[in-house]
Amino acid sequence: MTTLANYLDNHATTPALNDVITTVTNVGKTISQLLRKGALADILGEAGNQNIQGEDQKKLDVLANDLLLDALAKNTHCAGVASEELDNATPANADGSLLVLFDPLDGSSNIDINMAVGTIFSVLPYQRQGQTSENSDFLQAGNQQLAAGYLLYSTSTVLALTITDHVVMFSLDPDTGDYVLIEDNVQIDADTSEYAINASNYRYWRAPMQQYIDELIAGEAGVRGRDFNTRWVAAMVGDVHRILCRGGLFTYPFDTKYAHKAGKLRLMYEANPMSLLIERAGGGATDAVNRILDIDPTDIHQRVPVVLGSKNEVDYVKDLHVNYTDK
Ligand code: AHG
Ligand code: MN
Ligand code: MN
Repeated sequence: MTTLANYLDNHATTPALNDVITTVTNVGKTISQLLRKGALADILGEAGNQNIQGEDQKKLDVLANDLLLDALAKNTHCAGVASEELDNATPANADGSLLVLFDPLDGSSNIDINMAVGTIFSVLPYQRQGQTSENSDFLQAGNQQLAAGYLLYSTSTVLALTITDHVVMFSLDPDTGDYVLIEDNVQIDADTSEYAINASNYRYWRAPMQQYIDELIAGEAGVRGRDFNTRWVAAMVGDVHRILCRGGLFTYPFDTKYAHKAGKLRLMYEANPMSLLIERAGGGATDAVNRILDIDPTDIHQRVPVVLGSKNEVDYVKDLHVNYTDK
C-alpha cells in the first residue's frame, strides 16, 4: 500500500511542494468529514452574502475557504493564496517559495442536495521571495504550475494529483485517515462517445458550438456516424473525474448569457489546474481553439470558455471552430 506521504517523499520536486500539498489535502480530510455529517454539521444552506463573482455563497463555500486559508497561512512555504471566494489574493509568508490558488468548494449548487462537490487547487512558483505577495504575482500561465489537483467528495473521497509528468489518484481511507494510492498513471482514451454540457444555454452559444452539439445529438444518422451519451454533474470536479476514469468531453463554452462571463469557469483555479491534469493524462484542454495552459492571465478572477477531455474530440471541436463558415 502506497500512501500520499510515501508518494510525495519519492516524487515531490521539493520539500516545500511536498509540505504544501500535505497541508491542502489535510484540510480536504476535514471538509470530507463535515460533508459526511451533512445537515447534522450545520454546513448546508446559504451563508447570506455574495462573492466577487456575484454568486450567493453557501456556508460550506465560506467554511472550506477559511479552513484552507488558515492552514496555508501557517505554512512557511506558502507566500500567498488566491481563492474563488476572496476578492483579492491574501499574502501569507513572504519567505515562502510557493503560491496556492483554489476553488475551495466546487459544485456549490450540489451541497444542499447531497450530490458530488470538490476542492480544486493549483500551485505556482513565487518569484519575489522576501517581499509581500500581491495579485500580480499570481498572474502566471497555467503551463507554469508546479502542481495541480482536486479532491472529489462523493461516494468516497478521492484525490487526483499531478506533480510530475503523470496523474495519480488516491482514495481517502476514512478508518485510517490515509490517502491510499489507487491509480499510478491515469490515461484518457483519445476517442469518446460521452459529453458533458449544460444544454439549457444552447441559444447563447456561438454557431460552431451549436453545430458541434447538433452533430452529437444527430448521432448515428448524422455526420459523426455514431450515437453519443450525455452526463452533467454540475460540479466540474465530478465531470473531470469521470473523464479521467473513462474518457469523455466536458465543455462550458463561451456564451452570451451574461456579458461579463465569457464562459462561466474561472481560469486560475478551475480551468488551469483541471487542464494540467487532463493534458498529463493524455487529453486536450482548450478555450475551443487555444490551449488553456498557454493563456496569459490578466486578472485572478478571469473566466475562460473550456473544452477538455479526450484528445481527438477536443481537436474535433477546435477544427470545427477554426474551419467554420456561416451557411
Ligand atoms: P462553483 O460551485 O465553484 O461556482 O463551480 C460551479 C461550476 C462548475 O463546477 C460546474 O461545472 C458549473 O459551474 C455548473 O454550471 P451550471 O450550474 O450553469 O450548470
Ligand atoms: Mn467551481
Ligand atoms: Mn466554488
